[in-house]
Amino acid sequence: MSDSGALVRPMREHDLAAIAAIEARSYEFPWSQGIFADCLRAGYCCWTMMAAGGVAGYGILAVAADEAHLLNLCIDPDFRQQGLARKLLKRLLELATEHRAGIIFLEVRPSNLAAIALYETAGFRQVAVRRNYYPAREGREDAVVMTLRMDEEVTLEAVESPGGLG
Ligand SMILES: CC(C)(COP(=O)(O)OP(=O)(O)OC[C@H]1O[C@@H](n2cnc3c(N)ncnc32)[C@H](O)[C@@H]1OP(=O)(O)O)[C@@H](O)C(=O)NCCC(=O)NCCS
Repeated sequence: MSDSGALVRPMREHDLAAIAAIEARSYEFPWSQGIFADCLRAGYCCWTMMAAGGVAGYGILAVAADEAHLLNLCIDPDFRQQGLARKLLKRLLELATEHRAGIIFLEVRPSNLAAIALYETAGFRQVAVRRNYYPAREGREDAVVMTLRMDEEVTLEAVESPGGLG
């Protein structure tokens, strides 16, 4: 399936109920709607993916000084594997560049192979492990820390054309 017609636009307050519903379907330990509202209020880069006339995903990037942190990126299960996350990530990387971030950090569960594959095709590299970072059904789960240096020119092209790097 293709992502034609999908559009990324700034998140609005009235998206939040739909976003919280997608979040609840996507994560075992989801953020509450209030956390998304806090992200909007804090002035983070909060973007909504629209498809088929509704909210189909979202991404949140925090930029401080010359560093950016990708806090959340999620696509509605009904809209996955159509290239929407790649499109949304491309917009977030453009925003990081516009804000002159030199590096982007993110954390991801080692068990989240789909997300790790997405980030690796965009040029992110695994650089560290944070022990016991996430809640898990039994105890805690580590986080893999991934980074992308924004001076790696190849990045946006790689995100735009699947398979460019991989
Ligand atoms: C990870 C996630 C955002 C991918 O969204 P998506 O719209 O399905 O991804 P895309 O269709 O844009 O795929 C882009 C790339 O991601 C990787 N990918 C996506 N789904 C995958 C899967 N099920 N298995 C392996 N790789 C996958 C592939 O590298 C893919 O490139 P390809 O199509 O050329 O193989 C989505 O699965 C999701 O929302 N998961 C739950 C939330 C989450 O875990 N977010 C990340 C938190 S760090």
